[in-house]
Amino acid sequence: MQEILRVIHKIAASPSTVLITGESGTGKELVALEIHRNSDRADKPFIKINCAAIPHNLIESELFGYEKGAFTGAVNSKPGRFELAHDGTLFLDEVAEMPPEMQVKLLRVIQESEFERVGGLSTIKINVRLIAATNKDILKEVRDGRFREDLFYRLNVVPIYLPPLRERRVDIEDLIYFFIRKFNDRLHKTIETLDQNCLQKLLVYSWPGNIRQLENVLERSVLMSESNILRLQDLAPEVAEAVASESKEADVSRFMQEYQSGESFKDIVKRQTQSVEREIIERALAQNDGNITKTAEKLGLSRKGLQLKLKELGIVTR
Ligand SMILES: Nc1ncnc2c1ncn2[C@@H]1O[C@H](COP(=O)(O)OP(=O)(O)OP(=O)(O)O)[C@@H](O)[C@H]1O
Ligand SMILES: [Mg+2]
Repeated sequence: MQEILRVIHKIAASPSTVLITGESGTGKELVALEIHRNSDRADKPFIKINCAAIPHNLIESELFGYEKGAFTGAVNSKPGRFELAHDGTLFLDEVAEMPPEMQVKLLRVIQESEFERVGGLSTIKINVRLIAATNKDILKEVRDGRFREDLFYRLNVVPIYLPPLRERRVDIEDLIYFFIRKFNDRLHKTIETLDQNCLQKLLVYSWPGNIRQLENVLERSVLMSESNILRLQDLAPEVAEAVASESKEADVSRFMQEYQSGESFKDIVKRQTQSVEREIIERALAQNDGNITKTAEKLGLSRKGLQLKLKELGIVTR
């Protein structure tokens, strides 16, 4: 994420067109907004149009506006998003969905910074910074003839690729803490952190919905949690299940890797045993408000025995 931020700051000031690619939920819109906010256009409009959400026959009038009487229903003239974005930034979301005839018109605006309203005669000059985004493999769209190659090159002056969350797992933990703070504020909760078991599971999950999914999962967990520490059972059941089965697969393939790389069977099993012990003891401690005597009793251990275990496993009690 730091790397992406560095790129954003480097290119924000230029008027060059940016093409942001990445799977759904990776933060493309957020990045577009961040580029605008860091540019000298920050106090000018940031206008967005989602090419996938507008019927094909309306995209032209949405983008370029129309004059009174241009078509049935055009009782007044209306500026389009390009005009509204004048001196500012226009964010073309889901740009790969743009129909071919609009791709030609878009190319012309980019090249000449001018266009006409639908049904209009006068040419309008504009100064707009374009940021486009897509979650499609746009090169494939070009290869398959659905997206104009010349337009692709015009848009792709500054490419920014947002990798899926599973390919930048180092970001997951920071994002978790960020969202816990965010939803504490919003939902008036006082979650302090999440337990190790829960964190470990979230770190290995595949996050098909990327940051948006992580955000939703944490919103729900913060809302549902009955203590100040998030646990696995606070996650939505479908995520908890997916996380559990995926992490089991990940575990098994990791064991096999460790084994193949020459680690002894005994060491692998010992580490796993300890991780199970740690999980159960941490939970038992939490259920007994950190009381060692009560926890030991519950686990069928002596007080001394539990204390030795805590030390061995490096568990710190409050
Ligand atoms: N780095 C980040 N830090 C905090 N929140 C983030 C970050 N990146 C994305 N988000 C949040 O994740 C959610 C999804 O982000 P965004 O809408 O920008 O994704 P997108 O790539 O445009 O997704 P889609 O392709 O589905 O439109 C938003 O609520 C956004 O605020
Ligand atoms: Mg988006």
